[in-house]
Amino acid sequence: QGFGRPTPDGTLWCEGVSLEEIARRFGTPTYVYSKAMIESRFAAYDRAFGETPHLVCYAVKANAALGILETLASRGAGFDTVSGGEILKAVAAGADPKKIVFSGVGKSRPEIALALFAGIRCFNIESIEELERIEAEAARLGRRAPIAVRVNPDVDPHVEERIATGLGTSKFGVDRDDVLPLYRRARELPHVEIVGISCHIGSQIQSTEPYLCMVEVLADIVRQLHAEGIVLKHIDFGGGAGVAYREGEKTLPPGELVSALVEKAREVLPGEALTYLIEPGRSIVAEAGVLLMRVEFLKHARAGARYAIVDASMSELLRPALYGAWHEIERVGSAAAQTELPISIAGPVCESTDILGRNRIIATFDNDLLVARTAGAYGMSMASNYNSRPLPFEVLVSGDRVEPLQKRRQTPLDLIEAQRSLLDKSAAG
Ligand code: LLP
Repeated sequence: QGFGRPTPDGTLWCEGVSLEEIARRFGTPTYVYSKAMIESRFAAYDRAFGETPHLVCYAVKANAALGILETLASRGAGFDTVSGGEILKAVAAGADPKKIVFSGVGKSRPEIALALFAGIRCFNIESIEELERIEAEAARLGRRAPIAVRVNPDVDPHVEERIATGLGTSKFGVDRDDVLPLYRRARELPHVEIVGISCHIGSQIQSTEPYLCMVEVLADIVRQLHAEGIVLKHIDFGGGAGVAYREGEKTLPPGELVSALVEKAREVLPGEALTYLIEPGRSIVAEAGVLLMRVEFLKHARAGARYAIVDASMSELLRPALYGAWHEIERVGSAAAQTELPISIAGPVCESTDILGRNRIIATFDNDLLVARTAGAYGMSMASNYNSRPLPFEVLVSGDRVEPLQKRRQTPLDLIEAQRSLLDKSAAG
């Protein structure tokens, strides 16, 4: 399952296909995903809930390839979405709208209308302003909007601050003190139906402790709501577990997180018949993907600095440049060659931060194939056309089959076509 080196020549494979073959057939840079691994990560969440009523809503933002959404939808997944585009993609991939939740601090009127027409399960609302806007849209369209309040629990998730979302001062969620008044207001609104409560404290979380603090905050609110006669149908725990980016890094297995959440929720909310929701993104797709790239050539700079200039960059994989994130980088060919010399893996983009890995010990040569590991989440979904670079290609491997996830690789001509027709005479001036 996933990635390994099954043959005597020691080259890297994804399931039953060698990455060399994928590079030959589809070129580079290309994201390569293992379908079996995505399925097994989803199943790990789903299974861990056992008989408890639950819904695992995959966070589409982690990787929005239709082929991946289809894979998950066909396994019964729900989806956590944050834009009209994500809702449309989930529906296009066959998602049951009743399993779609809609989060985000800035839902536009057209997005709200789309969600109402689609008949989603729940809006996770993040402010009083949004509540009023949803009421107005639902009234206009003659619908009733199911809502949950996304609570900002003011809990420190102990992660990189740029991916924490539940600190009191952050833009996300509703301040603990404002939550009850908001539910009271929602109860008065004729086109809003209160169905749940939700939360999200951050991403890449590696221990259950902040999650358990969060459940206590939520439980407190659920009890107070109950006392006022507001009975909820579901509680949404937010995102999923962190993953290992460095070899040997200790991580939180999804099953362990789910068990801890369910146990805690049962303990602090006895007698509440709640469905449990969770919105994992990273831990379903991160380890199931690599970015396959080719070394253009090696370059030397002053004081012994060495670079492998590759055909991928921060445009294809932004995380190192944006967060200083670490991705293991390795040769696709056998790692037999030894070296002591550090080398930095750099892209062609005109930014000093366009370094995918700094001072790595990798024996690499001109024209080598390399992969950045653990790139299935927030890789392609954060890729851009910066420096007018076409987006990378993506393939989904299942056993010995390779399914291209795009009709064809984007080209620079597509970038021109998006702004001006190539057939339009006026394009010439
Ligand atoms: N639900 C909500 C409301 C979220 O905001 C997020 C992630 C998730 C679910 C999924 O969380 P996960 O299971 O993936 O931890 N671009 C960053 C990560 C940003 C995550 C933002 N929210 C990165 O590359 O590390």
